[in-house]
Amino acid sequence: MEKNSVNKLKSELENLSASEGLLFISKLFGGQAKFSTSFGVEDQVITHLIASQSLGIEIFTLDTGRLFQETYDVFDLTKKRYKIPITTYFPDPKRVEKLVSEKGPNSFFESVENRKECCFIRKVEPLQRALKNTTVWITGLRSEQSENRNGLEIVEWNEQYQLIKYNPILNWSWDEVNRFVEQNKIPINTLHKKGFPSIGCAPCTRAIAAGENSRAGRWWWESSSKECGLHEHKAVVLN
Ligand code: ADX
Ligand code: SF4
Repeated sequence: MEKNSVNKLKSELENLSASEGLLFISKLFGGQAKFSTSFGVEDQVITHLIASQSLGIEIFTLDTGRLFQETYDVFDLTKKRYKIPITTYFPDPKRVEKLVSEKGPNSFFESVENRKECCFIRKVEPLQRALKNTTVWITGLRSEQSENRNGLEIVEWNEQYQLIKYNPILNWSWDEVNRFVEQNKIPINTLHKKGFPSIGCAPCTRAIAAGENSRAGRWWWESSSKECGLHEHKAVVLN
């Protein structure tokens, strides 16, 4: 896709609501557009918008094998409520077996390098498989989530995966997200009400204290940039 086409798409989508934008994308790209969900509250909004309009956008998740039971519960509730398939990618069992055999089940606590190795095996490599033959990758990223995410655009060219990344609720506030969820009675992860605004793998996520950044509970023992590699490489922002 050429830079000009991405810019054109960006100017169209910037003027549309998330709901209209997803409809637009599904008409333009059909099965070439895919949405990744971790079943966080933001992702539940997008799943609702896709499923309630029966858009032909594939929904997929990366099951790292280390998720909270509460995440599996909302996964199940979502499938039942919307009656939709959710394509599930597991890590390569050979790589997980090698990692755990050599470094044990908790290697991620020992260094940032080990943690990134686990994230690569359990999330990034499966994402690379999930995004094969994809033109548009839809995510639930929001600017407010962290300083890192503050500079994101609604539509970006993603160099890493050579595709368009579309963040339809990028500019929604936490309150807007929660209001939408309540109004539409959307099932959400019960951990959100227990102090977990951002939910990843169970061993690597804790509740946050009042006043802490919403991603402070992710890899809480690190002072790193708190990204796992899914969204780490800075996307090229086109002007
Ligand atoms: S992460 O990079 O720190 O793990 P975060 O939890 O904030 O990401 O979620 C941001 C977006 O990344 C989600 O809206 C979703 O699109 C995608 N994502 C994160 N984790 C997963 C997952 N396990 N499976 C599928 N998509 C995911
Ligand atoms: Fe491994 Fe933790 Fe990354 Fe999950 S978040 S893939 S358990 S290091």
